[in-house]
Amino acid sequence: MAKMTIRQAGDPVLREKSLPVVKIDKSIHKLLDNMAETMYAATGVGLAAPQVGESKRVIVIDAGDGLLELINPRIVASEGVQLCKQEGCLSFPGLFGEVERAFKIKLEAVNRQRQKIRLSAEGIKAQAIQHEIDHLDGILFIDRATSISKQEEEKAEE
Ligand code: CO
Repeated sequence: MAKMTIRQAGDPVLREKSLPVVKIDKSIHKLLDNMAETMYAATGVGLAAPQVGESKRVIVIDAGDGLLELINPRIVASEGVQLCKQEGCLSFPGLFGEVERAFKIKLEAVNRQRQKIRLSAEGIKAQAIQHEIDHLDGILFIDRATSISKQEEEKAEE
């Protein structure tokens, strides 16, 4: 595994719409491994492939309950509202925004074994998944934030 460079605000790749993964092969497995390593090294709770320069619909999440690898994730239902007061992003160090997100989501994705998976998530995990899927469409949390603050101290970032 290898740690990858996290693309920062202003990098055009962060604004691209990522393409679906057609073939889940060794290169996707390697990407997933490297993304997880990069996310953990940065103490983030999520990372999307465009953040490491790959316009592919791949995300990794760990909201404290283990690593979740999602290929071609798609939200199929959402319910309720949560106000995320301190949402951050590894591509925007030190920046936090207040963002409204669905409280509960149901999603479909494919795992590294090429199996179709369905899962639901709520709270912080649902927040992280919505944040990362936004990345796949070139949408950044600053686009959704109703207010943004700058902070020096380190907080959980996505
Ligand atoms: Co982010």
